[in-house]
Amino acid sequence: MNSKSLCTLGLLAVLGMAMMGFSNQEKPKSKPLSKAELGKKLFFDPILSADSSVSCASCHKPEFYFADTNAFSIGIGGKRTARNTPSVLNMASRGLMFWDGRAASLEEQALFPIRDHNEMNLPIHDAMAKLRRSKKYRKWFWQVFKAPPAEKLLGEAIAAYEATLETSNSRFDLYNRNKGEMTADEIAGQKIFIGKGKCFDCHFGPDFTDDEFKNVGLYDGKLNRDPGRFAITKDSSDLGKFKTPGLRNIAKTAPYMHDGRFRTLREVIDFYIDPKKFVPDAIGTDTTIAKGIVLNEKEIDQLEAFLRALTDPKPKY
Ligand code: HEC
Ligand code: HEC
Repeated sequence: MNSKSLCTLGLLAVLGMAMMGFSNQEKPKSKPLSKAELGKKLFFDPILSADSSVSCASCHKPEFYFADTNAFSIGIGGKRTARNTPSVLNMASRGLMFWDGRAASLEEQALFPIRDHNEMNLPIHDAMAKLRRSKKYRKWFWQVFKAPPAEKLLGEAIAAYEATLETSNSRFDLYNRNKGEMTADEIAGQKIFIGKGKCFDCHFGPDFTDDEFKNVGLYDGKLNRDPGRFAITKDSSDLGKFKTPGLRNIAKTAPYMHDGRFRTLREVIDFYIDPKKFVPDAIGTDTTIAKGIVLNEKEIDQLEAFLRALTDPKPKY
């Protein structure tokens, strides 16, 4: 090949690139989805329920920090959930899932609500068939996984989306990064949280949870019968234990506890001050909590102010 033809080839290549650039502008090719983007589509899509009426977001509501404002959520056919819907923000570093830890990971967890008769009531096999019948999901799974919709991949995609739902711009965070202030009351509240309130014994780490199961004194085997962790392990020392929830954005995710029994943070603090006033015959209460704590009115307000400083004003999703 002589230098002239090389030159012509070069010119053709440049021309070709210019033309491609042009045609790209005319007809933008959609960017392939990422795994988390596919997970987001699935999270918000009622296709994963038997009658296509309920999505994950029906209960984990983005406008309420991915929790629900009712003590119990409404699933398929108006059925009620057995427990309060926790927020799915800040789940990336969690281990076991659910109040009783019955799922080992986010990936595994995602399949439970689909099957659950009170939530989405769709056998996983049927859910996969629905996704495989959908042209867009066939395309998207292929883009992300080079494979058709399958159970394991569904879990992976939803988990990847949930792992993006981390919040780190609360007043508490900004203060710690030297990017903002906390008020004197909030700082005093933090001292109470760590010190005489004993909250920090269980609610510690970046998301304010030890990721363990504890009995705070809400189980008496009579009126308060949810056995919590015991239902999974059958170990009697687990009776009445529930997963310690993280406390980020806690001011936004009322009502509180596994059964949504408390409507306000003030009620939760009143509970920790004197747990027996709420459940007099509680069985197996953690010794850190059993005796209650002593706080005056001002300290109660300060502790609440600290909890309110854990709210990210604008979670991204
Ligand atoms: C009908 C309401 C409802 C629907 C629909 C629903 N959830 Fe939930 N979710 C709940 C409730 C209630 C719990 C707590 C149940 C328990 O612990 O026994 C929960 C727990 C969770 C948890 C565990 C959080 C933690 O702190 O351990 C995750 C993660 C989660 N859901 C994600 C999802 C995903 C993903 C979907 C969709 C595939 C979904 N949920 C659909 C109500 C719902
Ligand atoms: C012994 C461990 C332990 C201690 C100490 C403790 N907590 Fe908890 N906390 C838990 C557990 C476990 C739950 C869930 C209990 C349930 O639902 O039955 C919980 C629930 C909560 C909730 C409700 C969260 C939600 O999403 O519903 C708040 C708020 C809370 N604790 C704040 C505090 C404060 C404030 C203190 C200190 C005054 C404190 N905790 C002390 C273990 C503890």
